[in-house]
Amino acid sequence: MQLSGRIALITGAGQGIGKAIALNLASYGADVAVVDVNLENAEQTAKEARTMGRKALALKVDVSNLKETEEMAEKVFKELEGIHILVNNAGITKDGLILRMTEDDWDRVIDVNLKGAFNCTKSILKYMSKMRWGRIVNIASVVGVMGNAGQANYAASKAGLIGLTKSIAREFAGRNITCNAVAPGFIETAMTNALTDKIKEDLLKQIPLGRFGGPNDVAMGVLFLASNASSYITGQVLNINGGMVM
Ligand SMILES: NC(=O)c1ccc[n+]([C@@H]2O[C@H](COP(=O)([O-])OP(=O)(O)OC[C@H]3O[C@@H](n4cnc5c(N)ncnc54)[C@H](O)[C@@H]3O)[C@@H](O)[C@H]2O)c1
Repeated sequence: MQLSGRIALITGAGQGIGKAIALNLASYGADVAVVDVNLENAEQTAKEARTMGRKALALKVDVSNLKETEEMAEKVFKELEGIHILVNNAGITKDGLILRMTEDDWDRVIDVNLKGAFNCTKSILKYMSKMRWGRIVNIASVVGVMGNAGQANYAASKAGLIGLTKSIAREFAGRNITCNAVAPGFIETAMTNALTDKIKEDLLKQIPLGRFGGPNDVAMGVLFLASNASSYITGQVLNINGGMVM
């Protein structure tokens, strides 16, 4: 799963799962473009990748804005001299039962989680096609497979991401570009820290492996799907959830 000579762009890589993915890909040899709305955090991740001897570029981008993602793709291709791997990881939640969910809460979650992946994928594909080798990994969620009360917007965005994954996989298979999704279960990050102890206790009972995941559990799955080791796998959803859904 060596990635020397590969260039990877990871969105939402300023913290949490995205940061773990970026640093794991860097530790296996990839140069990285660290993209986030929070530039300070993105710069910190890039700094850590540079200490491993990698080239790393930090960029402030809102993935829901196509113009910004187009500029991002052009800049990364020019400055890192290529682009082989895209990880669409940036994501947000705005939870609420559907009768109380506002139109803004619906729109913003779809805009970042689903349209953001469309924007980044569309923006990088013309450059990735030139490389004659590509890997796209979309970070979905167990909730996109199961649904979840109180997360209609989030679940719809993640289920949409799975449909996007399979369509891109079919469109670009002929160019030696694979596209897969990873569906994490409950992973300990800032996003899940917000849940109450009672919800966490109930969730734990549904996980056969008896623990919550860490960002590195997801990062290792992404590494596999971003490497040569997965060259015959496309259009799939890899569940990383401790057995929560089988
Ligand atoms: N934590 C979990 O249990 C879990 C489970 C399943 C899926 N996921 C998914 O994994 C991904 C990462 O989640 P996390 O737990 O690390 O969350 P996090 O909130 O810790 O990190 C998300 C990152 O995305 C960035 N971001 C937010 N909006 C953005 C935008 N418009 N443009 C660019 N960057 C933006 C944030 O600044 C932040 O750095 C998300 O897509 C999330 O839905 C998380």
